[in-house]
Amino acid sequence: MFKIESLKKEQISELKELQRLCEIESGWNPPQEYLDEWVKIVLGIHNHDPLLVKVALIGEEVVGYCISVKKLHSYDGVVMDVTWKSAYIWDLFVLKKYRNMGIGTALINDAVAYLKSIGVDKVGLLVNYWNENAKKRFEKLGFKLWSHFLMKRL
Ligand SMILES: CC(C)(COP(=O)(O)OP(=O)(O)OC[C@H]1O[C@@H](n2cnc3c(N)ncnc32)[C@H](O)[C@@H]1OP(=O)(O)O)[C@@H](O)C(=O)NCCC(=O)NCCS
Repeated sequence: MFKIESLKKEQISELKELQRLCEIESGWNPPQEYLDEWVKIVLGIHNHDPLLVKVALIGEEVVGYCISVKKLHSYDGVVMDVTWKSAYIWDLFVLKKYRNMGIGTALINDAVAYLKSIGVDKVGLLVNYWNENAKKRFEKLGFKLWSHFLMKRL
């Protein structure tokens, strides 16, 4: 019904549109510059290792993605120590109409299996505290609260 594959470069504009919908769902309409920057980062990760950028496909349509990072990386205040064998799930999204079919779980499992196969022994991710659906999903897959990320509006 669906399959999980590594991103092909020609799918990048579809992926960008999914990221736009993801940001809209989280409460803001991202400007074009943000999306362009996001695409550059994804292509950078993909150039480094295409297996870190997983997409879910139904037929030819990209319906979800999971992007991991395995090198020292800074994002929203999180810096992974290079001396740990840790990696990081940076972005995960499934189109609304294709949710509750196991696609999110399959994307995470596929990403985690790959990371394990290359020697990673810890996988982190950031999830907003109000995102109960995603938190529940991650907890079911064995992720546990590790730290609190604090922010103050100025
Ligand atoms: C979080 C998110 C990726 C989950 O995606 P999803 O594809 O709906 O996830 P799944 O289908 O694997 O799991 C959701 C539910 O589907 C059902 N499900 C899971 N596998 C299933 C299967 N094989 N067949 C039928 N139903 C299934 C289950 O009810 C499951 O929840 P439960 O295990 O708690 O009962 C998606 O909700 C999303 O994109 N949210 C917005 C972005 C976001 O929050 N990203 C994470 C931020 S870090």
